[in-house]
Amino acid sequence: MADNTRTTTAPVGVTPNEAGEEPLLSVRHLRKSYGDHEVLKDVSFDVHRGQVLVLLGPSGSGKSTLIRCLNGLETIQGGEIRFKGKVVPNNNERAWRALRTEIGMVFQSYDLFPNLTVAKNIELGPTKVQKRAKAEVDEQMDRLLRDVQLTEYKNAYPRELSGGQKQRIAIVRALAMNPELMLFDEVTASLDPEMVREVLELMLRLAKRHMTMIVVTHEMEFARRVADTVMFLENGVILERQSGDDFFTHPATDRARSFLDSMSPVGDE
Ligand SMILES: Nc1ncnc2c1ncn2[C@@H]1O[C@H](COP(=O)(O)OP(=O)(O)OP(=O)(O)O)[C@@H](O)[C@H]1O
Ligand SMILES: [Mg+2]
Repeated sequence: MADNTRTTTAPVGVTPNEAGEEPLLSVRHLRKSYGDHEVLKDVSFDVHRGQVLVLLGPSGSGKSTLIRCLNGLETIQGGEIRFKGKVVPNNNERAWRALRTEIGMVFQSYDLFPNLTVAKNIELGPTKVQKRAKAEVDEQMDRLLRDVQLTEYKNAYPRELSGGQKQRIAIVRALAMNPELMLFDEVTASLDPEMVREVLELMLRLAKRHMTMIVVTHEMEFARRVADTVMFLENGVILERQSGDDFFTHPATDRARSFLDSMSPVGDE
C-alpha cells in the first residue's frame, strides 16, 4: 500500500530492493505469442515480498496474458520466470502445478465449484493438494470466513451467494492455501457497483497485511490507494514502471497520461 505504515525494507517502486533482498518473483525477457501475434514482448520486472504491483493498460495490452503466464496457465515462447530465486522450467506443467499452491489467483469470473458448498470449496485445495489436516484447515477457514463476515454462508452453495460474496469466497479459497503471491485479474469487473466496494476493501486489507500482490484493475481510486508500484503496458510492452504516487501524479509518457484521462470519472476536467 502506498502509505508509510508499510514495510520499511522495500522502498516504494524501487527495484532491485535496496535492502538487498532477492525478489519473490523475477521475470526476464518474457515473450508470449498466439500464432504470429506477439502479445508480450520482452517483459522484465521484479516483485518483492510485501509489494503490491498494479498492472494498468488499455484493453488488449496483455495484462491478463501476463497474469496467466505467472501462474503457468499459458505456454511462453521465451524468457525466464523465477520464483523465490528458482527458475521455473518453461512450460513445465508439473512445476507449475506445484507452484500453484504458492501462487494464488482470482479472476473476473467466479470460479467456485457450483456443486460444492462454500466450506468444501475452501477445504479442497488445502486438504487434497497440500494434504493438510482437516482440523487445522477448518480452523483457518473459520478465521478467514469471520474476517470476510461470511461465516453464515459456510454451508451454502455458490448459487446462494451474491457476486460480491462469491468473489470474497474465491479470495478466501485462494488464501486458505497460504500463498506467498496473489494474482488478481479484474476481480470486480463483473460485479454490481454496490458489491465492488466490499471486495476492494478486502484486497486493501490484504495489502495492509503485506500480502504480495499483482493486481489488474480498472478501479483507479483503488489502484492509487493500493499500488506500491504501477506497471503500464501497451501492446505487450512495459511503457512505464514507477511508484504508484509518481504514476498517478505525473505519468512519464503521453500514452499513460491519456490513459489516465480516459479513466477519470465522466465530467471531470
Ligand atoms: N487465447 C487467445 N488466443 C489468441 N489471442 C489471444 C488469446 N488471449 C488473448 N489474446 C490476444 O492477446 C492480446 C492481449 O490480450 P489480454 O487479454 O492479455 O489483454 P488485456 O490487457 O487483459 O485486455 P483487457 O483489459 O480487455 O482485459 C489481445 O490482442 C488478445 O486478442
Ligand atoms: Mg484482461
